[in-house]
Amino acid sequence: MSVVGIVPAGGSGERLGADRPKAFVVCAGRPLVDWSLEVLESVCDRVVVAAPAAYLRPGWVEAGPSRSASVRNALAAAPEATTAVVHDAARPLVKRDLVERCMAALEPGIEGAIAAARMTDTVKEAAADRRVLRTLDRSVLWAVQTPQVFRADVLQRALERDEMALAAATDDASLVEDLGGTVRVVEAPPENIKVTRTADLHMVEALLC
Ligand code: CTP
Ligand code: MG
Repeated sequence: MSVVGIVPAGGSGERLGADRPKAFVVCAGRPLVDWSLEVLESVCDRVVVAAPAAYLRPGWVEAGPSRSASVRNALAAAPEATTAVVHDAARPLVKRDLVERCMAALEPGIEGAIAAARMTDTVKEAAADRRVLRTLDRSVLWAVQTPQVFRADVLQRALERDEMALAAATDDASLVEDLGGTVRVVEAPPENIKVTRTADLHMVEALLC
């Protein structure tokens, strides 16, 4: 078994609005991506990061036009992989224990195991005019995060889509689900947050220091 870690770090970070791509913004003393990289390197045989051309380090690959395209590019650089552990550079609070629990959940017959937190907010579906259509049953809803762990061959097939389909996917598991693959959620702590806006960066820095 060969486990490759894949870190999509190629986004521009438009919503963060920093002076550089989000994954390379300094957070608690180091580039944001380095926090995830350290954790993945401790559990994977090797890690491939997809980054903007100007930020490449040895062994990394150039990012694609969308998040899933970046994952595709990184996976293509690891043809020996039997298991792929995908984790966003934007989630620096990930712990080794969560990655290991996702890997352990990839039992026979399961194609993907993904970190997710139970919903604590009530979730409603609303129409374009904001009229509430229905209140969903929170007890069966999960807010999905990364890491997301897959059988590498299944993920590779799931990513064989045109650039439009890849751009529309908000996570890799949905592409595996499209293939009919079985994906399981692994309960994750809600504090494994994604840095999207400035307030998130401040929260993460407070938790990392
Ligand atoms: N990502 C990537 N390649 C892209 C777009 C995104 O590798 N073409 C990565 C980001 O670097 C991030 C993760 O996917 O680690 C999740 O994306 P997101 O939080 O949306 O980051 P950005 O796309 O950078 O932010 P924004 O959408 O605000 O521009
Ligand atoms: Mg984005």
